[in-house]
Amino acid sequence: MQGNLDPMNASILLVEDDAAFAERLRRNLATARFEVEIASDGAAALNRLRARHYDLVVTDIRMPEMGGLELIRAIKQEGADGVDPDVPIVVLTSVASVETAVEAMKLGAADYITKEAERQEIIVRLRKVLEQSELINENRLLRDQLERRDEFRELVGESEAMRRIKDEIQQIAGSTVSVLITGETGSGKELVARAIHRTGPHARGPFVDVNCAALPDDNLFQSEVFGHERGAFTGALFTRKGRFEQAHRGTLFLDEISELSRESQGKILKALEQQTITRLGGTRPVHVECRFLFATNKDLLTEVKEGRFREDLYYRVNVFPIHIPPLRERRSDIPLLAKFFADFFARQYRKPEFFFEEGAMALLRDYHYPGNIRELRNIVERLVIRARGDVITAEQVRQVGLAPVAGTAAPTGAITIPEGGLDLEEVERQLVIAALDRAGWNQKEAAALLNISVDRMNARVRKFGLKHPSWRVHR
Ligand SMILES: Nc1ncnc2c1ncn2[C@@H]1O[C@H](COP(=O)(O)OP(=O)(O)OP(=O)(O)O)[C@@H](O)[C@H]1O
Ligand SMILES: [Mg+2]
Repeated sequence: MQGNLDPMNASILLVEDDAAFAERLRRNLATARFEVEIASDGAAALNRLRARHYDLVVTDIRMPEMGGLELIRAIKQEGADGVDPDVPIVVLTSVASVETAVEAMKLGAADYITKEAERQEIIVRLRKVLEQSELINENRLLRDQLERRDEFRELVGESEAMRRIKDEIQQIAGSTVSVLITGETGSGKELVARAIHRTGPHARGPFVDVNCAALPDDNLFQSEVFGHERGAFTGALFTRKGRFEQAHRGTLFLDEISELSRESQGKILKALEQQTITRLGGTRPVHVECRFLFATNKDLLTEVKEGRFREDLYYRVNVFPIHIPPLRERRSDIPLLAKFFADFFARQYRKPEFFFEEGAMALLRDYHYPGNIRELRNIVERLVIRARGDVITAEQVRQVGLAPVAGTAAPTGAITIPEGGLDLEEVERQLVIAALDRAGWNQKEAAALLNISVDRMNARVRKFGLKHPSWRVHR
């Protein structure tokens, strides 16, 4: 079992009224690098549990004030204010009171240990409970990941660029070097990140991703990434592990890294340098060991030059860069990808295997894909849904709204003519539709996109018989 647990970080609250016994046990556990604090009864324990996070509670049964069973009931069932109900609990019993131990398990204790047990046995049992609770956390993470279904694990593509990327992933397979993945939106940055994780030394550990763009506020970012102690801010009822700690012995993927506030950039830099984090509102530094992957669709160097991204962080982040070129710069991958997605969606929608007519593939090849592979994937999904029979035709591709010209959005303005030539009138019709689509079917804006007057736009709309449901409202 690959536990996620570093015993150095395991903190135990020992609840025991026999001070001499408690001290002996504390010393024994310290040899296994458990950090133990002692509370003399249940009431004192609850106070401690409210004040900080413990990884485990070990409690005696019979104590003055509040006994062990009552303590378990308070933590597990009554949800004592501000106490983490998920903290694992182990009960200490005398040989004579196994029945009480069973009662404790029914209330939610994880295990019981007799007070006479050998030191080594106690240590082994406690470790196991700790590992199990770590496992539960890990399972939760795994389930999260499954729910997000990384349905496409395979990096499809045989272009120069794709081969280079696959080679680079192989090159670093044995190391935990930090990687900066750059590329336009939808180009496959996350897919590449997951591939690096899977081929790396931490493959069996968790893959935890953080979308920095979703955490613009520094406090939000900190509590999500570094976790927080109870009471760190209003509403922080429980101690919570951050994404950093969850990624321990695995991979932390910081996506859209350019979107971090300057303040958060500073905190991340410190964490990267010291390999420790401190939870929000906490004082205890926690050692974290993980692999870092970063992604951005911006040019980080420009961000640095313009003062939005810290230069010192840039050097930490940009250790091994992998750039994914836009799909329009590696068109030879388009047929492979189109076929791959067609097969995938055919299975998903229980349809037969599809073939692309030559003209259909030509249209797909020549489109400029501002949304890259994600856009191609969506187009193919729409084609599969609408298709009748097992052939996808050029007409069907036109119907899903693909402009047949390439490069219109490229700064060079170069338009390539497909091998079979093209129909100028049809190109015009497609361009008018594309412009209208881009402009939300506002004719004035669409006209501006094509650099023609509104009258000329209107004439074309009439000529091609174009209509949009929203126009009835607008005009
Ligand atoms: N080489 C590839 N082979 C197969 N599928 C791919 C490939 N690259 C990307 N995809 C698919 O395209 C979609 C977009 O990829 P991904 O989410 O990795 O892009 P991204 O660069 O992270 O996008 P964003 O910038 O929007 O976060 C996903 O469904 C992914 O599975
Ligand atoms: Mg992404």
